[in-house]
Order: sequence, then C-alpha cells, then structure tokens
Amino acid sequence: MSRAPDPTFALPSFPVLDPRAVHVWFCELPRYAGRQASFAAQLSDDERARATRFAFNRDRRCFILSHGLLRLVLSRYLRSEPGEIRFAVGPHGKPAILGSSGESEGIRFSLSHSGDYALVAVARGREIGVDVEARKAEVECLKLAERFFAPAESQAIAKLHGVAQQRLFYELWTAKEAYLKGRGVGLSLGLDRFEILFDASPPGARVRLTESGAFEQGWHIQTLSLPEQLAGAVAVEGDDWTVLRYEPAAYGLS
Ligand SMILES: CC(C)(COP(=O)(O)OP(=O)(O)OC[C@H]1O[C@@H](n2cnc3c(N)ncnc32)[C@H](O)[C@@H]1OP(=O)(O)O)[C@@H](O)C(=O)NCCC(=O)NCCS
Repeated sequence: MSRAPDPTFALPSFPVLDPRAVHVWFCELPRYAGRQASFAAQLSDDERARATRFAFNRDRRCFILSHGLLRLVLSRYLRSEPGEIRFAVGPHGKPAILGSSGESEGIRFSLSHSGDYALVAVARGREIGVDVEARKAEVECLKLAERFFAPAESQAIAKLHGVAQQRLFYELWTAKEAYLKGRGVGLSLGLDRFEILFDASPPGARVRLTESGAFEQGWHIQTLSLPEQLAGAVAVEGDDWTVLRYEPAAYGLS
C-alpha cells in the first residue's frame, strides 16, 4: 500500500503571508529545551533582564523558550536574524516590531504562553491578539466569571456544570484575552465591559460592548482547535481572514 506524502514536504521554506491569512504557530516548549542557551543569547538586554527576575526556573525557561521561538518565527517573515529583531512596547505593554520595511512591512504579531505551550500569531496589515490557557481542573470557574466577566457571560456559565462549565469558561476567557491583546489595551478595559457572543456556527465570535449593547464592528474572534488540555482564541482586526496553523518543526525551526 502506498503511503500518502507527508504534507509538510510541500511547505515553502518561508511562510508566505497573504493579507487575508492569519498564521498561528503552535509551539510545544519542551521540544526546544535544548535551545534554551542559544535562545537566551538572542534576547535583547530588556528581555534578558526580565528573564533574570523570575523567581522560579520553570517560569524563566518558559519566558526564554517562548521569546526565542517568537524571534525564530518572526525572523522568517522579516528575512532577518532572530537576534536582530527589535521591539517597541505600546502604552499598555503591547509589543510591536520596530523598523520593518519592504516585504516585511505591516507584519503584526501576538504572543501567548501557558505552561508548556506558546502560540505566536502573525498577520499583515491588521492588528491581532492571541491567547492560550492550559485548563486547570481546580479553577473555580463560576466564582471567577461572577467576579470578572460580563453578567450575561457568568449567567451562561452558571447554567452549566462540570466539564461543560469549564469548557465555556475557558472559551470565554481566552476569547476575551485575545480581544484585549489585539486592541493592545490590556486590562485597562475591564473584562466585564464587553461580552463575547459565539456565532451560531463555531468557531467564530463577536464582541458586544456591555454598556451600549453595540457590536464591535472592527474585530472578529475565532476559537482555536488545540489539544484537549488547552483553550485558545485569536482576535483579528477586520473581516475576511482565515486562520492557518503551523508548527515550527515543520519549517525546520527546531
Ligand atoms: C498581560 C495580558 C495582556 C495577558 O496576559 P496573560 O494572558 O497572563 O499572558 P499571555 O501569555 O497570554 O500574554 C503575555 C504576552 O502578551 C504580550 N502583551 C503584554 N501586554 C500586552 C498588551 N497590552 N496587549 C497585547 N499584548 C500584550 C507580551 O508579548 C506578553 O509576553 P511576555 O510577558 O512574555 O513579554 C493581560 O491581559 C493580563 O494581565 N491578563 C491577566 C489575566 C487574568 O488574570 N485574567 C483573569 C481571567 S478570570
């Protein structure tokens, strides 16, 4: 019986970023543990200083590996060396690439890490936010939702139990975080000031502002299909875009 060709063989060595595509890179950090020293050497002085401030080695390792992978992935779009990429930070902490031009102009990204996993989302000419969370069985979903989410969201969570309740909580949480990160406003926009409304046919969702009841026209959200222990979402400015998922190893980025 002939074996189907491995689809990764067909991939170009550089990902081509169509303005209507959103690339989401799924990174399993332990796979890159052997790269920690070389990734650390590529960090900026600021990033290195942040890395030294972590109290636990586990958190330092997660920071270095996810920032190393971010640089590695972006270097392919920017056609530059990972260690040469420079970042600026917005008023609420949103990072952006400094000084890209030519083919790499307009590249936007968002980074999220949780436990052993990181996501890097990349788009061209539109803002983007991504969030991943490792589900924790001990999290008190309803209490957290009642404290931080919009009332309609905590009421929807209250109607569910067990796994279904936890699933909805994490879907809402990651969608809300992705939107905040896309907008770059961080928690300066309270989590209760807007609600997530899932489309009749998942994985799409929209944002409704709690106070005015108006829909946020400029942004759309999509929940991501990830391994069972994770929840994730991407929020992207504008419409008419498609999510494509990549893994660094498939591009020889390992
Ligand atoms: C910082 C925040 C943007 C996301 O934090 P988070 O979900 O804990 O962490 P993530 O790994 O998803 O994202 C962190 C990355 O987002 C980026 N980031 C930081 N501030 C950002 C901002 N204002 N906008 C967009 N991206 C931002 C950075 O790349 C950061 O990586 P780094 O810290 O390693 O440099 C912010 O929304 C936050 O602090 N959230 C708290 C989460 C929480 O407690 N939620 C309660 C739910 S019940």
